[in-house]
Amino acid sequence: GMSERVEIFEVGPRDGLQNEAREIPVAEKVALVDCLSRAGFNRIEVASFVSPKWVPQMAGSAEVLAGITRAEGVRYAALAPNMRGYEDALAAKADEIAIFASASEGFSKANINASIAESIDRFVPILEAARHIDLPVRGYVSCVTDCPYDGPVPPEKVAEVADRLFGLGCYEISLGDTIGQATPDAVARMLLKVREVVPATRLAGHFHDTAGRALANIDASLSLGVRVFDAAAGGLGGCPYAPGAAGNVATEAVHDHLVRLGYETGLDRAVLDEAAGIARAMRVG
Ligand code: HMG
Ligand code: MG
Repeated sequence: GMSERVEIFEVGPRDGLQNEAREIPVAEKVALVDCLSRAGFNRIEVASFVSPKWVPQMAGSAEVLAGITRAEGVRYAALAPNMRGYEDALAAKADEIAIFASASEGFSKANINASIAESIDRFVPILEAARHIDLPVRGYVSCVTDCPYDGPVPPEKVAEVADRLFGLGCYEISLGDTIGQATPDAVARMLLKVREVVPATRLAGHFHDTAGRALANIDASLSLGVRVFDAAAGGLGGCPYAPGAAGNVATEAVHDHLVRLGYETGLDRAVLDEAAGIARAMRVG
């Protein structure tokens, strides 16, 4: 019979490249996105309208959105931390927005200079404005098991933040293992709580592969009903100056893993290989 679909949400051009030490020219980013556009993704995150003082690597986001060749049926997504970012993303014709909160206070402060409550106050007007024009908004929750500042994060806290973002109108909640330290058991405990407030069909898993457990964490998520996973071509991300540091789980590895498990991804493996090659070349270039 027909195999079940699992979707990979490609985040390499955003989450991968935001962590690269080298300043990457817009043309190279556009080339990566244009390759990814041929792979069969529904959604690709390509931009981030944040403060260039905080993340200089994303400064060319409007140029990237203007430079890509948009493929039919692909939604090109951009991060927005506040109304300014939302307006810039709209002006650049992003097809969807992502807002990003944390389940831990320490990371919230370090990443967006706001408490969790303050950050949600900033997201409310974004969600209101987006609702008026039917623009989809995705909600990230970072540090869903571990925070680099606060340590282990209680599943109840993740559920509280996910519930809030979902209630405000996010169409999907992406649960981030930001530092790649989650274990399958911790992921399962977290998901059991989050599923009480957001249906598994509206959740995504966002695993960084720092400890090499991303695929095991995807398995734990699959068994609890999650069917969308974020990944980056070539495993982009991590720091070239920190041997062993890893970025997002690699798209091609997630694809192969899902296929081995009997799922269908709708992606073209040859194009994924090509994209991974481009991504790896960007990392060392
Ligand atoms: P702040 O310093 O508290 O706020 O930053 P501010 O209002 O004082 O702004 C500082 C400067 O940025 C000002 O410029 C603003 O105008 C400007 P100045 O007056 O000093 O010249 N500014 C902006 N510029 C461009 N676009 C904007 C914008 N907003 C203000 N939208 C702020 C607060 C939220 C802006 C800052 O902390 C920030 O940009 N943080 C973003 C950090 C970030 O992008 N992190 C990575 C993405 S999250 C992630 O990767 C996790 C995820 O992958 C999931 C996971 O793995 O867990 C999604
Ligand atoms: Mg991330």
